[in-house]
Amino acid sequence: MCGIFGYVGDRNASQILMQGLKDLEYRGYDSWGIAIANNGTINVIKRKGEISKAEDLCLEGRIGIAHTRWATHGVPSDINAHPHISYDGALAIVHNGIITNFEALRERLLKEEYKFSSDTDSEVLVNLIHSKMNDVGLLEATQAALTEVEGSYAIAVLSANHDYVVLAKKESPFLIGVGNDEMFFASDIMPMLDYTKKVITLHDGDTAVLTQNSFEVFNSDSKVTRSATSVPWSKKEAELGNFAHYMQKEIHEQERTIQEALRQPAETLEAICSSLKNAERIFITAEGTSLNAGMVFDLLLSEKGYMTKCLRASELRHHKNQITQDSVVVAVSQSGETADLISALKDIKEKNPKVVSILNRVGSHVEQLSDHVIYIKAGPEIGVASTKAYTGQIAVMYLLAGNLNGSLDETRSLLLSTAEKVHNILAESESEISRIVEELKGQRDFYFIGKGINHATALEAALKLKEISYIHAEGFAGGELKHGPLALIEKGVPVVVIAPKDSTYQDIISNAHEAKTRGAAIIGVSSETHTLFDYFVKIPENHSTIYPITSVVPLQYLAYKMAVALGKNPDKPRNLAKSVTVK
Ligand code: F6R
Repeated sequence: MCGIFGYVGDRNASQILMQGLKDLEYRGYDSWGIAIANNGTINVIKRKGEISKAEDLCLEGRIGIAHTRWATHGVPSDINAHPHISYDGALAIVHNGIITNFEALRERLLKEEYKFSSDTDSEVLVNLIHSKMNDVGLLEATQAALTEVEGSYAIAVLSANHDYVVLAKKESPFLIGVGNDEMFFASDIMPMLDYTKKVITLHDGDTAVLTQNSFEVFNSDSKVTRSATSVPWSKKEAELGNFAHYMQKEIHEQERTIQEALRQPAETLEAICSSLKNAERIFITAEGTSLNAGMVFDLLLSEKGYMTKCLRASELRHHKNQITQDSVVVAVSQSGETADLISALKDIKEKNPKVVSILNRVGSHVEQLSDHVIYIKAGPEIGVASTKAYTGQIAVMYLLAGNLNGSLDETRSLLLSTAEKVHNILAESESEISRIVEELKGQRDFYFIGKGINHATALEAALKLKEISYIHAEGFAGGELKHGPLALIEKGVPVVVIAPKDSTYQDIISNAHEAKTRGAAIIGVSSETHTLFDYFVKIPENHSTIYPITSVVPLQYLAYKMAVALGKNPDKPRNLAKSVTVK
C-alpha cells in the first residue's frame, strides 16, 4: 500500500527521503515522489516506476515529504504520483487512504476557479486546504478542510512559506519519529529506523504540527499528549544478507523467530489467559495468513472445551449480535494496521467485549484498540507473503493454550524442539521440493488437503502458492473433496496431502485415495512415505513437534521455489501490498 515518509531538520532532506522511499518499497507501489520546501518554493520530483531507477537526486532544502503510491483513484502515472501541489504551488501534500467525497469537493473547487492536473482525490484535498487559508494558519486550514472530508487519510502538508509540516490521521497508520534535533514522520517504522527508535503513534482524529525539534498533537481542537514507544527493531534485521529474496530469508529465520515468540512475560500470558478463561464466548478474527493462524487457535481452544468462533474480520460485523461484554475477541495481525480488522474492532466496540491482540509490529492501530497485547517478536517481515509471522503467531497460540491447560513448561519445550527442527526440515526436503517444482511447474492448478488442525496448513500452503507463483491453488478439509472439489481432479493434477501421523492420518490417507483413483499426482507431507505418494516431503516424527509449524515450513519453501522457477519475484507479488490499509 502507499507509503509516506517525511523529514524536518538540518540535513539535506532529499537524500534522507530517497533512502527512506527505498525502505518503503517492500510495501508495494507503482510510482513515487518527493517535495522539498526551500526559500519560498516547493520543488517536486515524481515518477511512475521503480525508485531504484531514479538518478541520484539532490534538491536543496531541509524540510520535505515523500510518497510511494499504490494506485486507487487514477492510473499509475507521473501526474497521479504524489506529492500533489495546490494549483499555485504554495502547498504540497502526500496522502494515504481514500477521500470518498472527492468528486463533489472537486466540482465545488472548480467553481471557485481551482485547477487540477491529476485524477486523484489527494490533489482535491491539497486545494481544499489551500481554499481555507484566507486568514488562518496551515494547521487551522487543514483542520477546517478535514471537517468537509469523508474517507480515510494520513496526510502531511508542506508549505513553501513555513518551516513546519502539518500531519493528520484517520484510519490510516501514521507515526512520528523523534530524532536528535530533527523529526521524521512515516506511515511505517522502516524508513525511520536509521535515525530513531523513539516513535509516537498518532490516533484517529489527530492533527499535529512538527518542527525540527518539537511536535504538538491536537484532537477535537484540544491539545493532547501522545507518549513515545521505543521500537525494538533494528535496520540490520531488515537486511537481505546472503539470501536472494526476503521470503527465503524469512523462511530460514523461523528457527530463531519461533524461539523469540516463546519469550513472553508470565504476567502477559496470565492476564490474557484469565480473560480467555472468563469469556462466555471467544471470537478469533483476522485476515489472510493471520486468519489461517487464527483457525489453529480456534481448534486448540475448542479442543479444551471453549466456545470459539473464527471469523474473517471483514465478516465479523454480520455476527455482531452474538458478541457481548462477556465475550473476548482475539485479533491476530502481523502489521496491526489491516483496515478490515481495524474496522471490525471499531464496529464491535459498542458491545464492549475484551479485545486481546496477537501482533508483530509495535505501536499499531490494533494495539490502540486492544485491552491486552501479546507480541510475537518476529522482527520486520519484509516479504509480502507472510511466513515467519505465521509460525510466530502459532507458537504464541500454543503457548497460551499450554498456559490455559497448566502445561506451559511442556508446551514451551515442545515448541523449542519444533523450532530446532526447522533447519533440518528445509535441508532434508530441498531436493524433493526441487523435483516437485521441476516436474509440476507447468500445472495450472494445485489442491491442498488437511484435516482438523492440518486444515489450516492446507489453506495457508495454498495461499502461499497462489499469491507468489500465480498458480491457481485451493485448500480444502479432506472430507470436503467428495462434496464437490473431487470433480476438479483429473490425470496429473497435483494434490498436496498434509498427513502427519496424528489422529487425522487414516482419514486424510483415505481422502488421498479418492484423489489418486481419479488420477491425481499425490504429494504427501508426512513423517513416513506411503504407496499413494508420488512425491514425499518428509517432516519429523510428530510426538516431538507441533505439526501446524513443521508441515507448513516445507510448503512455504515449495511456494517460494515455484515462484522463483516461474520467474516471479516472490517478495513483490503483482497487485498485492504488505499491509492492506484500505478496506
Ligand atoms: C499473505 C499475507 C496476507 C496477510 C493479511 C493480513 O501471505 O501476508 O494475507 O496475512 O493481509 O495482514 P496482517 O497480518 O498484517 O493483518
